[in-house]
Amino acid sequence: MTLIIFGFLMKKKGCVITIAQQKGGVGKTTIAAHLAVALSQKRNKVAVIDVDPQGSIKHWYELRENRLGDDYTGIYFSSTSGWKINSELSTLKQDYDYIIIDSPPHIETDAKTVIKVADLVIIPVQPSPADLWATKASASLSSSEKIPYKLLLNRVPHNSKFAEAVIKEYPKNIFKTQLGNRVAFVSCLAEGKCVTETQPKSPAAVEIKSLVTEVCSMLQGLSKNKVAA
Ligand SMILES: Nc1ncnc2c1ncn2[C@@H]1O[C@H](COP(=O)(O)OP(=O)(O)OP(=O)(O)O)[C@@H](O)[C@H]1O
Ligand SMILES: [Mg+2]
Repeated sequence: MTLIIFGFLMKKKGCVITIAQQKGGVGKTTIAAHLAVALSQKRNKVAVIDVDPQGSIKHWYELRENRLGDDYTGIYFSSTSGWKINSELSTLKQDYDYIIIDSPPHIETDAKTVIKVADLVIIPVQPSPADLWATKASASLSSSEKIPYKLLLNRVPHNSKFAEAVIKEYPKNIFKTQLGNRVAFVSCLAEGKCVTETQPKSPAAVEIKSLVTEVCSMLQGLSKNKVAA
C-alpha cells in the first residue's frame, strides 16, 4: 500500500518534452506525434504544442480530428509562438502528465525558448555528418541551460557505421532505442494516426514503445533526483 502511494506521488505531472534540432527534416514532427500517441495509449494525459509556423503537426492533428472525431483524439493540441509558451505551459502543466513541444528547424528565439522550458530535450539525429554537426547547437544550448537532453538516432540503416560514430561522440546523451527508416512511420501519419495504432506489432511500433519506456524512466529518474536534492 505504502509503495503504491509512494509510486503515485513520484509520478510527476506536467513533464515538458521538447523535440528540437536546427536541421530540417530529421524527424522532429514524426517523433513528437508518435511519442504523444504512445504516451496517451499508456493512459497518460498528453498535450501537444506546435511552435513551428510550418504547422506540420497541426495538419496531422486536424486529420486525426476528422478521422476520429474531436473528442476521441486522445490528445489535447494547441499551436502557439515561443513567447507565449510560458503562459500556455502554466495552464497545461496542471492538467496534463506530458506536454510535447514540436519546434521549428532553426535555433532562433522560439527554438531557444522551447528548450529552456523543457524537462527533457529530445534531439533527433540521422546518421549523417550534417546532422551530427547541426546537433551541436541544440545540445550546447540544453547543456548551458542545464536542461537534460538526449539524441535519438532516426532513420538508421542496418549496420550504420555513422550511427556508431554518433554514439561515440555523445556516449552519455543518446537513447538506446534507435528508429529505423520505415515506411510505416510515414503512412500512418497520412491517416492522422501513429504506428502504435495502425500496426501495433510492427518493428516500428516496437521501437516507439521502447522509446517511451526510456523516456518515462528517464523523467522518473530526474524527478526523483529533484525530490532528493
Ligand atoms: N524513421 C523514419 N522512417 C521513414 N521516414 C521518416 C522517419 N522519420 C521521419 N521520416 C520522414 O522524413 C520526413 C521528415 O520528417 P519530419 O517532418 O518529421 O521532420 P522534421 O524534423 O519535423 O522536419 P522540419 O524540420 O521541416 O519540421 C517526413 O517525410 C517523414 O515522414
Ligand atoms: Mg517538423
